[in-house]
Amino acid sequence: MNNFYYYTPTKVVFGKDTISKVGTMVKKQGSKKVLIHYGTGSVKRTGLLDRVKAALDAENIDYVELGGVVPNPRLSLVYKGIEFAKKENVDLILAVGGGSAIDSAKAIGYGVANEGDVWDFYDRKRTPKASLPVGVVLTIAATGSEMSDSSVITKDEGGIKRGCNNDLCRPVFAIMDPELTMTLPDYQTACGCTDIIMHTLERYFTSKGNMEITDSIAEGLIRTVMKNARILVKEPKNYDARAEVMWAGSLSHNGLTGCGNGGNDFATHGLEHEIGGMFDVAHGAGLAALWGSWARYVYKDCLPRFHRFAVMVMDIPDNSSEEEVALKGIEKLEDFFREINMPTNMSELGIHPTEEQLIELAHKCSIAAGGSKGAAKVLYEKDMLAIYKMAL
Ligand code: NZQ
Ligand code: ZN
Repeated sequence: MNNFYYYTPTKVVFGKDTISKVGTMVKKQGSKKVLIHYGTGSVKRTGLLDRVKAALDAENIDYVELGGVVPNPRLSLVYKGIEFAKKENVDLILAVGGGSAIDSAKAIGYGVANEGDVWDFYDRKRTPKASLPVGVVLTIAATGSEMSDSSVITKDEGGIKRGCNNDLCRPVFAIMDPELTMTLPDYQTACGCTDIIMHTLERYFTSKGNMEITDSIAEGLIRTVMKNARILVKEPKNYDARAEVMWAGSLSHNGLTGCGNGGNDFATHGLEHEIGGMFDVAHGAGLAALWGSWARYVYKDCLPRFHRFAVMVMDIPDNSSEEEVALKGIEKLEDFFREINMPTNMSELGIHPTEEQLIELAHKCSIAAGGSKGAAKVLYEKDMLAIYKMAL
């Protein structure tokens, strides 16, 4: 077991009709004026935006709003939000939406509280020293951004998608009503379930050590998400399944499933972020399209963990060689992705990168990682290129 640091300051308000609490939560922060930040229309169509405003009105909280956040949120809107928030003297950003709205809100929070170009924090040129507080009303269970220290933004020119990790951006509160996720398209629900599983696996596949309690939590979490993702394919309005997946999403990326493991892998995420930046695909689907290729490329370097995963999570009988069992576990997770209508390669994802683009993807991925990435196996640019090619 390795030493670890665990910090989860987010106050969680979970369950049906919890939107009504948003005004009180903002008030408890001592906030006087809020920027409500949201996506491209779902919050208006579902009536959620009006409910949020009513809850703020009930507590006499002043607000302004800025919509238009797209999946793979863009830096251009972040700049616009920073200017707007400064002009309006906003003291809290309230993201109403999913990972994209939340990450954009986090970036605006950095931009308002620090001098200079906010992109420097994503480009690893500088580290943020402060942030405006961010509150969340979550509408999709997926990224865990509602409790995470991460924000991922895409620079419009060149489609450069980069993450900034810092405790300063962990939301101060998150309102999580599973009912809000019932209006999601099935594809987005499945993307979310995939992302949640992947956040757990990125911490699980490490050669640096383990902690039994953390492994048990991670394995239980993945099994729970798989079970409920299958239920949601048939019954998208199943409240309990929505609730299980929503809470799993937060736990999968707030640090809990990495305690004592000694290292995060996050190579599949690094590979996906480049695809998201270049081809604007949905994050969860991009992960599903790459994971199997990544796993087959690295499993021999992390065999005990792949073996354990196969037996403990995928129910593969432990009656053949360690390697055979590990490979069966990989195949079975890919079968699951197909079952929930996720792609297992780039062609199924609907993208067909040219040789030149593959080289560019691998190059950008290695630059973003500072040269190398991975805990199951350390990957360099040539390895990244090989995995992209395997995933065609
Ligand atoms: O824009 P609207 O109209 O709201 O539509 C959204 C969007 O099209 C729609 N949607 C969301 N909630 C809905 C809904 N439609 C109907 N009913 C609802 N209740 O779903 C689409 C996807 O939304 P988005 O916020 O983009 O999804 P997600 O939560 O998967 O976020 C993806 C982004 O987060 C980043 C990803 O890379 C990607 O940019 N990530 C952020 C992380 C973090 N901050 O910790 C970690 C992740 O690994 C990830 O990288
Ligand atoms: Zn993710």
